[in-house]
Parts: sequence; structure tokens; C-alpha cells
Amino acid sequence: MSDAIAALPQQNVLVTVEEGIAWVSLNRPGKRNAINPGIVFEMNKVLDALEETDAVKCVVMTGSGEAFSAGMDLKEYFREPDAGEPIARERLNRANSAWQWRRLMYYPKPTIAMVNGWCFGGAFQFLCACDLAVSADEATFGLSEINWGIIPAGIVTKSVAAALQQRKAMYYIMTGDTFDGKEAEKIGLVNFSVPKAEMVDKVKSIAKKLMEKNPHVLRACKVGYHYTREMSWDMAAEYLGSKIDATKFRDPEQGAVKGMSQFLDEKSYRPGLGAYKRD
Ligand code: COA
Repeated sequence: MSDAIAALPQQNVLVTVEEGIAWVSLNRPGKRNAINPGIVFEMNKVLDALEETDAVKCVVMTGSGEAFSAGMDLKEYFREPDAGEPIARERLNRANSAWQWRRLMYYPKPTIAMVNGWCFGGAFQFLCACDLAVSADEATFGLSEINWGIIPAGIVTKSVAAALQQRKAMYYIMTGDTFDGKEAEKIGLVNFSVPKAEMVDKVKSIAKKLMEKNPHVLRACKVGYHYTREMSWDMAAEYLGSKIDATKFRDPEQGAVKGMSQFLDEKSYRPGLGAYKRD
């Protein structure tokens, strides 16, 4: 256990690390892991600690008990801050954006959302910001904002627009209808939906695959994906051209040199069929 992880409060968010994977659970099961200021400020500490711990190679986001997360806490995130000082409310919003998407989307380590149960409203923000997602078939998803009289704000609408086709996004935003894990897989909100009993093993197998890759290049791949989505084609070509050089130059394990040599000279592997051998 690293000092940074040992120093975490482990109250609103639980963290365990096993074989390179950090299992991060929002931990308000009695409130269906609704996101309150306690979770917000603790999650920022968790992301700091996991980033600086070398033993952590992959991060899994999930929830304690029967919920992934019931979204933002209507009392502690909306009603109470709305009635308080505007500056405190802005600070809370900034801190929430920081962990839920600004940092998570560009996080230097791969991230997987494991949707174990209820997943509503604001929970879509960090669900979509994770690189990959696995759901239990039994999970229930919903953009419930319309049901209690607000729009899917924060960054929920934009997250959903990025992840789903327009007809699906508009349907769920406008009706608030719930859907299960299988539908989430069908519409592309998660990569895989499996029976709940198989969910952890499925996540572990994906994490293992990611941890076998060159972490430096993996990070550049995911960041490059997010940035280029917002660029013109010409700008994207320029950006990716610069990044491929920067990645080759700065990669501590010089993966491209190894990969090429193992294929062209040693003929020890085929890049089309798997990764080069890392030391
Ligand atoms: N904000 C605040 N409190 C919440 C909450 C939320 N988003 N979601 C659940 N809770 C609280 C409930 O008020 C209840 O508190 P109490 O025990 O003090 O009465 C507790 O968590 C358990 O919730 P309950 O509704 O009894 O659980 P359930 O298993 O029957 O239903 C849900 C689960 C998720 C379907 C239901 O809690 C719900 O609809 N939550 C709101 C979902 C939502 O609209 N989120 C979007 C916010 S942006």
C-alpha cells in the first residue's frame, strides 16, 4: 500500500488495490451512492493518490451495495448549496467537474466503469468519462432529470451526445425511461453487459489486456482520441503527427523501436495479432 493511498479517508469512497487494479467504490450505499460534497472532495484526493502510485496500472470505478450511483444528491448537491453562498456552490461545481470528467477523461491511466446497479443522471458524467465500461445485465440506467424538472446539466447532455446516436440520446433525455445493461450495450453506452455474477471477471480480463500494453503510448492514445474529436481534420493530422513523434521520443521503454525490431528483425511476433514483448 503506497503512502498516498494509506492517507486516503476511505469514507465516502473506498479504494483497494490488487494486482495493478485500483477498485474505487463510491460508498454511500444507504443513499444509493448519490454524489454529495463528501464524495466530490474525496474523489479528487483519490485520483491524486492513484495517479502517483506506481503499483496502480488501471482504475475501476464502481459503487458499494446495489447502486453504481443514483446521480447527484438532490439534497446535499442541489437543495442545500443552492440555498447557500454562490461562491461555495461554484467551488463545489468546479470540484465535481474536476473528478467527474476534466481529470477522469484525460487520466494518465486506463479507466473502466463497472456499472453494478442503479445509474442515474449525474452518474452518466463519470460513466462516459471512463475509457471503457462494463455493465451488469441487471443494472438500471436512466436520464431521470426530466422526471424531477431539470435539464441534464453539468456535462450530462454533452457526455450522452458524445456516447450515443442522436435518436437514442434524445429519446432517453426526453422520456426519462429506464433501460437495462443489455440495452446499454446495444446503444453503445457500455462495451459489454454480462450477468452480474460474471461482471468482475469480465472487468479483470479487460484490465489485464490494457495492463499488458505500453502505458506511455496508451495514455497518448486516449488523450489523442478526446482532443481530436473536437478538431478539424487538418488540425487533427497536425496534432497526431506531432504527438507520434513526441511519444516516440519520450517513451521510456522505446516501444516503437522494440516493436519494429521484434517484428522485422527477430520475427518473434506479429503486431496484427498481439503486443510486442515488454521487458
Ligand atoms: N439524491 C438524494 N438522495 C437520494 C438519491 C439522490 N439522487 N437517490 C437515493 N437517495 C436516497 C433516498 O432519498 C433514500 O434516503 P432515505 O433512506 O433517507 O429515505 C435512500 O437514498 C434510498 O433511496 P430509495 O429511493 O428508498 O431506494 P430504492 O432502491 O427504492 O430506489 C432509486 C433507488 C435510485 C431508483 C431512487 O432512489 C431514485 O430514484 N433516486 C433518484 C435518482 C435520480 O433521479 N438521480 C438523478 C440525480 S441528477
